[in-house]
Amino acid sequence: MTPLGEVGHPRVAILTDETGWHTRKLREALRRRGFEGRCADLADCRFDTAAPYGLCIPGFGRRLPVAVIVRGIAGGTLEQITKRLGILHALREMGVPVYNDARAIERSVDKAMTSFLLARAGVATPQAWAAESEVEARRVLVREASAGRGLVLKPVFGSQGKGLVRVGLVEGQFVPLPDLKDFGRLAYLQRYVAQPARAGFDWRVLVVGGRAVAAMQRVSDHWVRNIAQGARSVAAPLTPALASLAEQASAALGMDYAGVDLLPDPEAPGGATVMEVNGVAAWRGLQKVTSVDIAQAIVDDLLARRLGLPLGPGLSTRAGS
Ligand SMILES: Nc1ncnc2c1ncn2[C@@H]1O[C@H](COP(=O)(O)OP(=O)(O)O)[C@@H](O)[C@H]1O
Ligand SMILES: [Mg+2]
Repeated sequence: MTPLGEVGHPRVAILTDETGWHTRKLREALRRRGFEGRCADLADCRFDTAAPYGLCIPGFGRRLPVAVIVRGIAGGTLEQITKRLGILHALREMGVPVYNDARAIERSVDKAMTSFLLARAGVATPQAWAAESEVEARRVLVREASAGRGLVLKPVFGSQGKGLVRVGLVEGQFVPLPDLKDFGRLAYLQRYVAQPARAGFDWRVLVVGGRAVAAMQRVSDHWVRNIAQGARSVAAPLTPALASLAEQASAALGMDYAGVDLLPDPEAPGGATVMEVNGVAAWRGLQKVTSVDIAQAIVDDLLARRLGLPLGPGLSTRAGS
């Protein structure tokens, strides 16, 4: 008898636009627990009201996966992304655990909503604004500059540190708002949190099942410290303050697992402030600097918490414990 009483290995869908290191790690982790991980691209998943569940997931024939891990969603038109998220919503409606749930992914992909939810939950996060009106956005720049503060203008759906611009007060000069056409005609502004220009860092903390499992510093001379922008990952202790902040941020967005970005901020109570929360987080950089098996932590949390599978002794869902 295999888990869940199915014949053969029950199949978990790993939804991704890119197979490689992450999907291999997830498949190995699933295999260790008696499950088969099958990759499918959300772009290739279809609605078909005549199909058994109204859905076609490549590699699953007429059946539904027992669970879904969302690993990557490719960029696309508003219509395509709506359909892809629709597939995730539909899977949830059919009773399939989706890790992270579409609602959580939507919240975290939208930086304005992330700021709103973090602030509402009382989690330290830089003050932020999102306005369609350029006049209103300029007012914020001027008001903040006159108080001696600068801002970061970010693409609201951005990732990997692409397209960020410092505006308002920057190194003593006033930098005006650029044309918002490259920003989807939306100004998402966040207060700039100053860091040392050389070898400054931010933190990435991975939270799995509500618990912070590992942390790293991303070190760079550039103020945008994403690994994709050339920052180096350096091992960092997961202090109780950092863990608690990241866990609160993950909970505020309703995440099963989350990559939480934090900046050192001496003015914040825990010494750090949450910049953003990633709902489709990569962990290759983090895996290099931690002994915790991250893919196994994710898989075990999915199986235990979302599928209710009793993991035996030694198969703790608390990675590293
Ligand atoms: N408010 C800010 N103050 C200072 N640095 C910031 C701020 N926001 C972002 N950064 C820098 O830019 C990086 C990318 O910003 P982030 O909001 O995480 O967007 P992305 O989704 O592109 O990763 C951060 O990791 C940090 O190094
Ligand atoms: Mg980030």
